[in-house]
Amino acid sequence: MKKLSFLVLFLFSTLLIAQKFEGLALTPPMGWNSWNRFACDVNEELIRETADAMVSSGMKDAGYQYIVIDDCWQGKRDKDGFIQPDPERFPSGMKALADYIHSKGLKFGMYSDAGWRTCGGRPGSRGYEYQDALTYAKWGVDYLKYDWCNTEDLNAKGAYMTMRNALYAAGHPIVFSLCEWGDNQPWEWAEDVGHLWRTTGDIAAIFDGQEGHGSWNSWGVLQILDMRENIRKYAGPDHWNDPDMMEVGNGMTLVEDRAHFSLWCMLAAPLIAGNDLRDMTPEIKEIMTNKELIAVDQDPLGIQGLKYLVKDDWEVWAKPLDNGELALCFLNRSMKSVKVELDWDEYPVKDDEFQHHYFFNQTEYEIRDLWAKKEIGTTAKPFKTQLESHEVVVLKLSPIK
Ligand code: GLA
Repeated sequence: MKKLSFLVLFLFSTLLIAQKFEGLALTPPMGWNSWNRFACDVNEELIRETADAMVSSGMKDAGYQYIVIDDCWQGKRDKDGFIQPDPERFPSGMKALADYIHSKGLKFGMYSDAGWRTCGGRPGSRGYEYQDALTYAKWGVDYLKYDWCNTEDLNAKGAYMTMRNALYAAGHPIVFSLCEWGDNQPWEWAEDVGHLWRTTGDIAAIFDGQEGHGSWNSWGVLQILDMRENIRKYAGPDHWNDPDMMEVGNGMTLVEDRAHFSLWCMLAAPLIAGNDLRDMTPEIKEIMTNKELIAVDQDPLGIQGLKYLVKDDWEVWAKPLDNGELALCFLNRSMKSVKVELDWDEYPVKDDEFQHHYFFNQTEYEIRDLWAKKEIGTTAKPFKTQLESHEVVVLKLSPIK
């Protein structure tokens, strides 16, 4: 009897203190995920080679750390219900793969689904949450992306909290990435549940447009950029809006890849590469490892950028940075080349949500172009440039003391 009441008390107290593992994503997570480029075509060789390439390409040095296997790694559950990896694709098992990734100084991520099957039709975690969380802890999994297919009448907040609690009870610190596509406004309730949450449906390697897949569409970079207004106030250190994994290197033009990468940095988005790291051109590598752009994304204030100025064909995004600095991204959305001119004094940047204001008629700023990697003057003179179709210019403004 004594034993039983102790057990009840213990279970009750673990439920009471269940929480996400705090502090694992004080800046937006950076890594790689298999889905955008490889979809269901994953195996242990690809994952090992990707880990090698993350190191040899300089991406690890630039800050990328998670190697995440998305859907289709799962085989069957054993007779006791424990999930097994697909034996043909992962013959050495997940612990060995995790050890390999860890031996490179990287972290290991996996994918599951709150429903009874994943989007790719493999076993989901519904009804097996605590067992799966234990398995991930045993394998040394550091990051879990948790999808929302085949969830029928499940309540989203409840389902994600169940998995959060299971992960916490398993005791192995893990980043929890909610992939519920923004259907149930996770930004309103997920701050205590996970470290990042998808805000939209899936991205496609398209800059401006969409791709039909029968019952659903995937979206271009501009469509995702425009899809959710007014949710930047919900993001910050340890709880990020996630506009989906990147498509840099997956078929857009270099100009578009640069714009996509820049916009994701302006949004303080998780920077999860989705291309083949084993086969990157020097230009793609240069985009993915631009340390000054990455520093904008990873700025310790963790403020998501805002759309600050909209003109006919171009617009400007602004992101307050630490030390009174500011990042600005000029974007040409149109199909033609446009002339951009900005008289600083006329357009102060006012971020009412995070209370960071920049009055250029009161303070002069030095300007650095983060793609050209050079200083280009100060805010004493209007900024003028020509932007090709879909081109961006990203500037960092530093107050002149
Ligand atoms: C959903 C997710 C994608 C990917 C696939 C896998 O569509 O949104 O990011 O994980 O499932 O099947």
